[in-house]
Amino acid sequence: MKVSASGLHKDYAGTKALDGIDLDVDGDVSVLALIGPSGGGKSTLLRVLGGLEIPDNGSVSISGKNMDFGSEAALLAHRRSNGFLFQSFNLFPHKSALANISLPLEKVHGLLESEARERAMDALKRFNLTEHAAKFPAQLSGGQQQRVAIARAIAHGPGLLFLDEPTSALDPEMTAEVLDLIAELKEGGQNIVLSTHEMGFARQVADEVAFLAEGKIIEIGTASWLFEQGEDARLRQFLSRVMRY
Ligand SMILES: Nc1ncnc2c1ncn2[C@@H]1O[C@H](COP(=O)(O)OP(=O)(O)OP(=O)(O)O)[C@@H](O)[C@H]1O
Ligand SMILES: [Mg+2]
Repeated sequence: MKVSASGLHKDYAGTKALDGIDLDVDGDVSVLALIGPSGGGKSTLLRVLGGLEIPDNGSVSISGKNMDFGSEAALLAHRRSNGFLFQSFNLFPHKSALANISLPLEKVHGLLESEARERAMDALKRFNLTEHAAKFPAQLSGGQQQRVAIARAIAHGPGLLFLDEPTSALDPEMTAEVLDLIAELKEGGQNIVLSTHEMGFARQVADEVAFLAEGKIIEIGTASWLFEQGEDARLRQFLSRVMRY
């Protein structure tokens, strides 16, 4: 992926969610992981990069193209060309797994009903969810729901896939199921920016890891460098806390 950001600031009623973020991720990186303490700005940064939130200051460029935060049409096009998944399940409760995927393809991406259905079935098949196509979210396990949500987020072929703590609501076995799926997407060439509290996963799968605290990127580098050699005291303290158990 080619993602860069410069001088990003975002204030929420006096809280500096982003306090001067500079970022330059080059084409060799296919998975960028954001880690750090709660309230550090990970979700806000994901939302800004995805065009869901407008920064007070600063600029973002993705694949060499500057994001136009002043144009609602440009932001909408940007959102459509990427994919999102948030921490809690985002499925429509009264629609089947299949309809959860096919409806946005029809309504948001303008596919014909038959095309949308076919594309949705392909996405379900890819993640071994074919047998669950007709089920409603409440009839699926948490891990299956999250896999359907990921299938939906990638069904239109997003340039970038943004995942905000995709496993935080899952038990360990389902977490593994979803993390395997994300690793598989990476193998398939999908570019992914995610926030996660799964340090083992970040270390294994991310090409680059950024440690955010207090709205700033405190350290950024390859996963092995950051976990083994990152020197910042806040990073070391964070890692020693989250990796203690
Ligand atoms: N919509 C909002 N309104 C007001 N304050 C907000 C809003 N969104 C985020 N904040 C504040 O901005 C700061 C950064 O929040 P953010 O959600 O980006 O952190 P985070 O790193 O994702 O944390 P977590 O690990 O808990 O998800 C926090 O202090 C939060 O309370
Ligand atoms: Mg968050």
